[in-house]
Amino acid sequence: MTEAEASRRSGEGDSARAAVLRGMTVEDVPAVLVVERATFPADAWSEGMLRGELADQPRTRHYVVALVAGEIVGYAGLAAAADQADVQTIAVVAEHQGAGIGGLLLNELLAEASRRGAGSVFLEVRADNPQARGVYDHFGFEKVGIRARYYEDGTDAIMMMRKLGDSNG
Ligand SMILES: CC(C)(COP(=O)(O)OP(=O)(O)OC[C@H]1O[C@@H](n2cnc3c(N)ncnc32)[C@H](O)[C@@H]1OP(=O)(O)O)[C@@H](O)C(=O)NCCC(=O)NCCS
Repeated sequence: MTEAEASRRSGEGDSARAAVLRGMTVEDVPAVLVVERATFPADAWSEGMLRGELADQPRTRHYVVALVAGEIVGYAGLAAAADQADVQTIAVVAEHQGAGIGGLLLNELLAEASRRGAGSVFLEVRADNPQARGVYDHFGFEKVGIRARYYEDGTDAIMMMRKLGDSNG
């Protein structure tokens, strides 16, 4: 897969941190699953689901990991087909949230969607996840619908969409 690299230095938190993005490979699966299970205790993806996604790279998928001091602290994945793309997942470990890493990951997915010619990017977010909804609002995503009781515990999914234009910021 195409190596996606970007870096950003953030002054937030106790100390400035540098995060680097690169493409996710099957070698990353164990470390990604640790983050996945810690971040989504109620509905973590299985190893098989994650491997299935990676098997579709680069054809319809683009997955990246965020590294701080060589350790995986976050990841995100995009599905793209024709002129539409979907954010499949995005997560940053709790200790590194709020430091710009989620934004770095999201920008990379938006840039990849643009590179692949998508005109819009969709995602679903739990109605009871104001933090993520705030981040998506901030990135220009708009609510386009609700999937009632979409999640196993009966929580609604909010569907959001962002059109891709001149800038991905
Ligand atoms: C959602 C998540 C990926 C965001 O990652 P993060 O590293 O904490 O986000 P960032 O610090 O990069 O913030 C991204 C931007 O959103 C802004 N933002 C953050 N929280 C916000 C809020 N509640 N409302 C509005 N804007 C917000 C930040 O200011 C930042 O903007 P900037 O880059 O212009 O300064 C992360 O919190 C996470 O993993 N949460 C748990 C898993 C989850 O809910 N995943 C999404 C499932 S749909």
